Amino acid sequence: MNQENQLQNRMTVIDKEVTWDKTQVIMSKTNAFGIIEYANEVFVDVSGYEDYELMGQPHNIIRHPDMPKVIFKVLWENLKQGKNFHAIVKNLAKSGRYYWVITDFEIAKDGNGVIVNYFGRRQAVPQEVISLYIEPLYKKLLQIEAASGVEFSEKYLIGFLEEKKRSYVEYIKELIYEHEKAQSKFAQYEEREEEEEEGGFFRRLFKR
Ligand SMILES: Cc1cc2nc3c(=O)[nH]c(=O)nc-3n(C[C@H](O)[C@H](O)[C@H](O)COP(=O)(O)O)c2cc1C
Repeated sequence: MNQENQLQNRMTVIDKEVTWDKTQVIMSKTNAFGIIEYANEVFVDVSGYEDYELMGQPHNIIRHPDMPKVIFKVLWENLKQGKNFHAIVKNLAKSGRYYWVITDFEIAKDGNGVIVNYFGRRQAVPQEVISLYIEPLYKKLLQIEAASGVEFSEKYLIGFLEEKKRSYVEYIKELIYEHEKAQSKFAQYEEREEEEEEGGFFRRLFKR
């Protein structure tokens, strides 16, 4: 993020959620360096930026200061290896309001296997998952980063996940799955195996 964006973002943060249609999918496409080349209408609506303000900008234009650095570190480690990654992210709209999403990526490579584009899809996350599990964890990671740096927030995250015997993606999958099950949102939960395969779970979530 360039200095100007960061300064602007810090000045405009408002502790209010963006009102948006949470059945929609927010999409964007970037080059290999995370520079925005396309944003769908939902992205434009939810972020509050015009598309001409987004094109050519680094994706951290919507980075929220409440997001711990370690989450993006792990996200980029996966993306650069050509691996999809599901992260729960708090984003910052132009208005200063926030919106929480879960990510899904597709990675496009050229004939030589070099990454040329990333396609990001984002869905809403149940509020309960955010307030009961993600906010407390991210707050802790942010505090550790402020005190000791990202090296130690990463160590904490590894320890936290080791205790749960889950990877980060497995952990958030389980949080959302358990929430859906408790809500009995889908009748088929009765018949579905408790341990739904990870890929299948996220394909269903992103309806693809
Ligand atoms: C396709 C794609 C979509 C992304 N979507 C988001 C997003 O919704 N919110 C976000 O903060 N970062 C997103 N990122 C990550 C940003 O590029 C960036 O790493 C992040 O905002 C943290 O900023 P920093 O790397 O400057 O610390 C995305 C990256 C890619 C490649």
